[in-house]
Amino acid sequence: MLVLGIESSCDETGAAIVKDGRYVLANVVASQTEIHERYGGVVPEVASRQQLAAALPVIETALQQAHCGWEEIDAIAATYGPGLAGSLLVGLTVGKTLALARDLPFLGVNHLEAHIYANWLRQSLDSDPQAGAAEKETERAYLPGDPLFPLVCLIVSGAHSELVLMRDHADYLLLGRTRDDAAGEAFDKVARILGLGYPGGPAIQQAARLAEEELRQQSLPARNPYRLPRAWLRGTYDFSFSGLKTAMLHLAEGLVADQQSGRPLPSGGRQISRYTTMGSEAARRGQIHIGLLAASFQEAIVDVLAVKTRMAAQEYHVRQVLLAGGVAANVALRARLEEELAPLSIQLQYPPIEFCTDNAAMVAAAAFFHLLRGERHDLDLDVEPSLSLPFRQE
Ligand code: KG4
Ligand code: ZN
Repeated sequence: MLVLGIESSCDETGAAIVKDGRYVLANVVASQTEIHERYGGVVPEVASRQQLAAALPVIETALQQAHCGWEEIDAIAATYGPGLAGSLLVGLTVGKTLALARDLPFLGVNHLEAHIYANWLRQSLDSDPQAGAAEKETERAYLPGDPLFPLVCLIVSGAHSELVLMRDHADYLLLGRTRDDAAGEAFDKVARILGLGYPGGPAIQQAARLAEEELRQQSLPARNPYRLPRAWLRGTYDFSFSGLKTAMLHLAEGLVADQQSGRPLPSGGRQISRYTTMGSEAARRGQIHIGLLAASFQEAIVDVLAVKTRMAAQEYHVRQVLLAGGVAANVALRARLEEELAPLSIQLQYPPIEFCTDNAAMVAAAAFFHLLRGERHDLDLDVEPSLSLPFRQE
């Protein structure tokens, strides 16, 4: 079954063609990062205007890349929530209109469910005319299998941080969620505090990596010098990241003040101007080690996410743990969780980077499993900006 997926919940406009919910024949994303960068975040009105212009070209490009005509498409799926109302409306309306015009079944997809189903996706070399036979054989040998139930999924995106138990397809039990900021939101806000730009997650990861590399090269201890709080919220699987964000703000302000009064910094005395973009003169002059601040923050957030996910995996005796959402692209989180799970022989799965952040392939993947069960939506389906996963009550 070939599904055309459409995604426009935030600032990206995506279209993808996916076979049987797994094999990605085309995945096209028109990003607006450069436009929103200068505002330090997404401006909704700007996003939806751009999406209106991008939607049809993105779909046409996806069809071309997949070498497929409309007659081969079996169904159309578009995200209907959660997300920005104006943005969702563009993708949903385009999807429903095309379904009507082409007389194809239509399905609205929950964006969070789509992030989870990114774990079923594989990049298919079969669709790549450049790929040789040997390469295709190797790919088949190394393709990960479908995720195995029961599993725990940690969804960490710009707007959500949820720990969910899945015993089967579309069966979601909420174990815990953030009580304030989402993990991605914390990355974005702290990146802004440190002047590292938008989107914050990749910027923090990069700054932390460079700083840690530099410490290694100078044979300095790789330990992060800044002590940051962790909200464990014991006895629950809930998260809280706003305290960590505030601590970062105070720490950064304190360091600037220390620097201005000539006190030494806890970074082995190193002052590395490459990383110093914090919006203060002292920082700009290269006197505060922004990369180490970023590394300490990343370590604190990853610590809580990895330990709580491992505890849930243990309690519910799952076979696998999945990572989903933009923050699943974080290398430190992947490595730390792998470390936590290895002694328990629980396997960790996460999507390739391009399927972690918003894309339409994951929308088509999630849709496939609903379509298989004969589910469809009527064309009066409306956007639901605050849609949550359909949790079971237990
Ligand atoms: O899933 P996503 O693309 O959009 C939402 O549904 O929200 O997630 C975007 C979030 C942003 O907050 C971004 O900073 C974060 O994912 N992110 C990362 C990384 N790449 C993206 N966070 C940490 N490390 C990364 N490498
Ligand atoms: Zn998302």
